[in-house]
Amino acid sequence: MDWGLKNRLSSIIKPQNNRALMLAVDHGYFLGPTEKLEDPKKVIAPLLKHCDSLMVTRGVQRASVSATADTPMVLRVSGGSSIIGEDLSQEDITVSIEDAIRLNASALAMSIFVGSKYEYQTIVNLGKLVSEAEKYGIPVLAVTAVGKELGKDARYLSLACRVAAEQGAHIVKTYYCDNFEKVVQSCPVPIIVAGGKKIPERDALQLTYNAIKAGAVGVDMGRNIWQSEHPVPMIKAARAIIHGNLNVDQAFKLYKKLVSEEPKKKPQNNPNQKKSNNKKKPQNNPNQKKSNNKKKPQNNPNQKKSNKPNNPNQNKPNPTKK
Ligand code: R5P
Repeated sequence: MDWGLKNRLSSIIKPQNNRALMLAVDHGYFLGPTEKLEDPKKVIAPLLKHCDSLMVTRGVQRASVSATADTPMVLRVSGGSSIIGEDLSQEDITVSIEDAIRLNASALAMSIFVGSKYEYQTIVNLGKLVSEAEKYGIPVLAVTAVGKELGKDARYLSLACRVAAEQGAHIVKTYYCDNFEKVVQSCPVPIIVAGGKKIPERDALQLTYNAIKAGAVGVDMGRNIWQSEHPVPMIKAARAIIHGNLNVDQAFKLYKKLVSEEPKKKPQNNPNQKKSNNKKKPQNNPNQKKSNNKKKPQNNPNQKKSNKPNNPNQNKPNPTKK
């Protein structure tokens, strides 16, 4: 393995403990503005210093990541389909090696769709990408995509991970499953585990712990960090498992402590509600008084009595005050 490739790889998987914490923010490449990742710049900024590397598309890297950041970039270079398109597996390589070098990528990432309609295209693309990237000493991370029609058990994931490694991928990203040790054991290159859909924080920490115990080098986690109400405590807790060897109870305790220490967010709606209430009160009360005052000069006390029961519409403005 060339020095440059080893060097880049060691910036992603830390050589001192063979562990990795990758923050995934590439979801928009097929999902568009994913919930809580609508503004990638805001999401990435406070988390960047807590991850070992960032998995990102070139668009978001250029627009939303400071060029002064020293965090290694794992650049997604595949795409071509969206969540509303016909077939998510129809991906191609969308970024040239020259652009990846301009972006100072520490690794390139692409998905393969083993068992799908477009498996041939994506697997051949992986082989070609490895050949191209190795010319420049850049490692390739293969993502074993899963979908409705694709399995997510140890048998399927072992097959998909092994296929990726056989094509020369230097790291394989896959999903955690029962008997995950089997997936790890039959894959000759390091495996990193995706976080998957948002689950309760403790469960996501459990997944992190289990993945490492089964032999993964770490997690490439996205939604379970930035879709948490407390992204920074969450990434710190995951980091404490990966690099601090905390168990799940200890990490969750740390998460709760960090949450309790976060500056309390001011409730966003209450101040506005107060303002609008304050505005409404003076607006409506004087009108009510005026209308009462107008009636008073008529000097007909009987009208007062008759207006109350006979004019229920007078009460209608009150609910609108709320
Ligand atoms: C999927 O292929 C995307 O590349 C994400 O990077 C990946 O799913 C990891 O993110 P999450 O932890 O949200 O599943």
